[in-house]
Parts: sequence; C-alpha cells; structure tokens
Amino acid sequence: MLSFPFFPEQASTFAAKVDYLYFFLVALTAFFTLLILGLVAVFAIQYRRRSPDERPGHVIEPKALEIAWIAVPLAIVVVIFFWSAHIYVFMNRPPANAVDVYVVGKRWMWKVQHLTGQREINELHVPVGVPIRLNLTSEDVIHSFYVPAFRVKKDAVPGRYSVAWFEATRPGAYHLFCAEYCGTKHSGMIGTITVMEPAAFQAWLAGGASGLSLAAGGQKLFNELACVTCHRPDSQGRGPILDGLFGKGVRLANGETATANEEYIRESILTPAARIVAGYQPVMPTYQGLVSEEALLQLIAYIKTLKAPAGGEAPPAAVTEGPTSPKDKARDVRTQ
Ligand code: CUA
Repeated sequence: MLSFPFFPEQASTFAAKVDYLYFFLVALTAFFTLLILGLVAVFAIQYRRRSPDERPGHVIEPKALEIAWIAVPLAIVVVIFFWSAHIYVFMNRPPANAVDVYVVGKRWMWKVQHLTGQREINELHVPVGVPIRLNLTSEDVIHSFYVPAFRVKKDAVPGRYSVAWFEATRPGAYHLFCAEYCGTKHSGMIGTITVMEPAAFQAWLAGGASGLSLAAGGQKLFNELACVTCHRPDSQGRGPILDGLFGKGVRLANGETATANEEYIRESILTPAARIVAGYQPVMPTYQGLVSEEALLQLIAYIKTLKAPAGGEAPPAAVTEGPTSPKDKARDVRTQ
C-alpha cells in the first residue's frame, strides 16, 4: 500500500492516518461502483422484456430490504464522519510543546522566520520527531502552504494568522508547494522542507546564527519605531502598558472586550483606531505600509515575552500610540 508510485511518501505523523481514510474511501467507492454496475448488467439480462406485450407484475418491496438499504449506507457514512472528524481534530490541535515557525507568503515566495532568529526563503529546516506549529499569513493575496509528504495544506490569508502543524517522521527533503492560484508565478512558488536529525538541526541552527532571536528583533523594532515612548512599562505612557498583556482580555472604549491575541495586536499596529482601549485616546498613528508582515511577527513575538511585573495585576492595555511621526523611524525597517 505504501509503495504506490503515484503517491507522495509518508513523512509525518498525519500521513498514514490520512492515507488509510483515503484508501478506505477509494475501496468503498470501487466496491459500490462494481456492485451497482454488475447488478445493472445482471438485472438487464435477467429481467429483460421477453415479448412485446409483456407487462411487469405488481411489485411489493420487502420491508427488510428497504430498511437494509437505509441502515447500511447510514452506518457507513457515520463511520466516515467520525473517522475523518477524528483526523481533522488531530490535525487542527497543535500539541502544547510544538515549536513555532512563522511563515509569510508573498508573490511568489515563502518567507520563514524561526523563533531563534534564523530566516529562510523557500526553505524550511526542521528537526525530525518534533512537532512544528506553522503560523501562516500573507502580505498580498491568498496562498496555500502545501507539503504533500506531510499531508499538510493550509491557506495563508492576508490580515489573518492561520495555524497548522506537523511532526516529521523521517529525515529528508520534501516538496513545498503553493496550492492556491496566486498569479503569474504561482507554479514557481515552491520550496523545500528539510527534515534533519536533531544533532544536524542543532548544527544548522548554530551555523545560521543571525544574532537576534525573533523576540529580540521585535524589541529592536519596538525601540526603532519609538513604540517605547508611549508604551512604557510604568503608567506614565500615553499608550496602554503592554507588559503581561498577551492572551488577556482587554476592555475597550466602546464597552466591548477584546482578547489580546496575535490578530488583535496586528490590527492595533496597522489600524490603531479600530479598537481603542478604555481610558485611552485614539492618538496612535497607523503603521500601515511601514511595518512588513515579518516585522509584525517580530513585534508580536516581543510583546508575547513582556511579562506582567511580579505581584502586579495584568494591566488593561492595548497598542495605541504617540507623538513622533513613525515614518522617519520606520524607513529602515521597511525592507525587513
Ligand atoms: Cu502563492 Cu499560489
């Protein structure tokens, strides 16, 4: 079964599960196709009209037969439902110990950032046997991150962070495709996932030392963009305190509550007026066009690391900001 030459290899913990379901569906379809075709042929011959004036007699369907052809297909589709729902839930719940990797799709390339600061384009290096959580977004149109050998496919949607995960089960190089038509060079938006033994991966990490981790890069941006002048750790800033903010509920000026997740922070940087925190003025300028999607991921990673001061309560907060024009400060950040 595993050696179908027209099948991608099974290189993740999903692969066999997905394939068994798929093969079951193919076998089931083949079985009923042949059964029905065969019966059509047999009945056509056996019950053919034998003389021009032959009329069929009155037919009374047996109850048992009627119940059987309702109950059997129902049982089969219920099995398919629970089987596939089980796999779907498994594929959509990254384990808690998964390692984050940040992916930005762009016409026409995949840009990858690791928490440790390494960056790659159209390549992703991961260790074998470690669950990897992919945080996907796009800076232009919808792309789709597709690794057939892992049975992983997830859309990268502009303005949204979507999550997928996988755990590679054997070292090797695997194809990465874009599976959503995104323009002229869609077919060239391809890459390689390199799965390495843990020791080799550590060596790769050391070799690609770029200095700053994702969060440290975010901290650098936070200072360069002058976010720090308004979002101060004390209560003297014009913007809400960010320490301990991530993951908490935020009271908004309009009385609603927002959860300070990745998308909320992204929105607060790009369209600060969208959701103003209760007690603050809408004074923060937009950073739309000044901060790249990758820079946003770095800022979010940094904000995630800001812990509430010991003993203190989580501050009511959000990203709203201040005085100087961000344009000058942001100029050198654009290309990141
Ligand atoms: Cu990106 Cu197709």
